Amino acid sequence: MLGPDQPVILHMLDIPPAAGALEGVRMELIDAAFPLLHGVVATTDPEVAFAGVDYAILVGGFPRKAGMERKDVMAKNVAIYKSQASALERLASKDVKVVVVANPANTNALILKENAPSIPAENITCMTRLDHNRALGQLSERSGVHISKIKNAIIWGNHSSTQYPDVNHATIDGKAARLVIGDDAYLDGEFVDVVQQRGAAIIKARGLSSALSAGSSACDHIRDWVLGTKAGEWVSMGVLSDGSYGAPEGIMFSFPCTCKDGKWEIVQGLTLDDRSKEKLKVTGDELVEEKALAMECLGESA
Ligand code: LMR
Repeated sequence: MLGPDQPVILHMLDIPPAAGALEGVRMELIDAAFPLLHGVVATTDPEVAFAGVDYAILVGGFPRKAGMERKDVMAKNVAIYKSQASALERLASKDVKVVVVANPANTNALILKENAPSIPAENITCMTRLDHNRALGQLSERSGVHISKIKNAIIWGNHSSTQYPDVNHATIDGKAARLVIGDDAYLDGEFVDVVQQRGAAIIKARGLSSALSAGSSACDHIRDWVLGTKAGEWVSMGVLSDGSYGAPEGIMFSFPCTCKDGKWEIVQGLTLDDRSKEKLKVTGDELVEEKALAMECLGESA
C-alpha cells in the first residue's frame, strides 16, 4: 500500500463481539511472516486503535438491514462516525489521511469531516476506487485487452447505484474506449448498470459484500494518493466537492483526481455531454439528500 520498502504497524479495531475473530486475524498476520509488518495492535478500544495513526481506513459502519428505514441506518452511522471523528482528532497523527470505505461511504466521510474540524478537509476522502477498478475490469473483459492497458475511466458522484461510470475519456491501449468497444448501446446501458450494481451482485453471489476487491482498492486509493498517480492517468476519489463540473459544493463527491506529493487535485477541463451532466445531477442530488438526512440525525444526536 505504501510501496515495496515501507514498514508498517497495523492497528486493527473491531467491536467487542468480534474480539475473537480479530484475535484470529492477528494470529494469521503473525503467521504470514510479512517482512514489512513491524507490529500489530488488535483492539476493541478506539482510544488504543487511533493513537498515532498516519493512515486510517474506516471499514466499520452499520449496514441497512431488512425493514430498516434509511433514517435509522443514517442515525447509526452518524453515531459511529461522530465518535470515530472525535477519536481521530484527539489521537491520530495531525496529518492523518483518511479513507472511508463503509457505506454510505460519501456521507460517512462527510459526517467525519464535520466532526473533526482540526483534520484538514483534504485529508478526508471516501473510496470509489473499487467502482473505478470495476469499470476498468468490465472494459477489459469486453475488449479482451489486459487491464494494464485500460486507463482513465471516471466514477462520478456517490458510491451507490446512482454513481455514474463514465467512459467518454477512457482509453484502451491508447485509443478511445468508445472506438475500441464500438458499441455505444452497451457502454451507455449494460456497462453502466453492471458497474452500478456490482456491489449488490457480489453480495448475491457470495452472501457477503466484496472483501478482496474492496481491500485491494483501498490499498490502491492510499498508494496513489501518497506515492502519486502515473503520468497521464487519473483515478477516481471521493473528495470534498468545490463545485467542479457543477457538482453541489460541500458534499463528498467522486471526481477524477491526480495525486502528487501526497495531495490530490480534481482533473479540470474535461468535457461533459448532456447525458453525462444529467447523470452527475442525479447522483449529486442523492448526496445532497443524504447530507440533509445526516445533518438532521447529527442535530438530533447533539
Ligand atoms: C460494494 O460496492 O461492494 C459495497 O459497497 C456493497 C455493500 O453494500 O456493501
